[in-house]
Amino acid sequence: MTDFIHRFEPATDAGSPPLLLLHGTGGDENDLLGLGKMISPGSALLSPRGRVLEHGMPRFFRRLSEGVFDEEDVRRRALELGDFVADARKQYGIVAPVAVGFSNGANIAAALLLLKPDVLAGAVLLRAMVPLSDPPKANLDGKPVLLLSGQADPIVPASNSAQLAALLTQAGASVTHKVLPAGHQLSQADVTLARNWIGSVDAKAA
Ligand code: MLT
Repeated sequence: MTDFIHRFEPATDAGSPPLLLLHGTGGDENDLLGLGKMISPGSALLSPRGRVLEHGMPRFFRRLSEGVFDEEDVRRRALELGDFVADARKQYGIVAPVAVGFSNGANIAAALLLLKPDVLAGAVLLRAMVPLSDPPKANLDGKPVLLLSGQADPIVPASNSAQLAALLTQAGASVTHKVLPAGHQLSQADVTLARNWIGSVDAKAA
């Protein structure tokens, strides 16, 4: 199995979509388990640790500076994560997951959507930015994506998250983009909106 340190928690409700939890810079495989349980109790949780270290802090791809990505590494790491998800699906017997990514984790999830659309059933992108300046033409074919941005986010300019929403929409995703009165950190509103959104996606899929 592609080698990611990870946690897996089986579903307690077979009808809930599995979640692929992707932490932010300096986080690990334990970080988002609580969030996953809050937004979709009953879902299987698959939570890998990013394999890139920046001054000892795990990430999902290399960056040259804050907000400036090593795009070759973004591509390579996104495909590697896609392979991990495919292996984990076989090992744990789960269907394609909905990604729930925060910050760097949201950025790799966005890259994965653009590079390997079949890996994810959808995505919750929390404080994401455009991961690739020249992404391939993807066909996201109505895939549901919730993008939650912070109005006062010092890392992600409003124009950048708007561009990401447009990029995913052009690729055919069904994007809901909301800008919250928040910074880069998550707020209670993120949890509530993500929970309601997952519930509605789930109901449509059932
Ligand atoms: C990134 O590097 O992915 C973004 O700058 C967000 C972050 O991790 O700080």
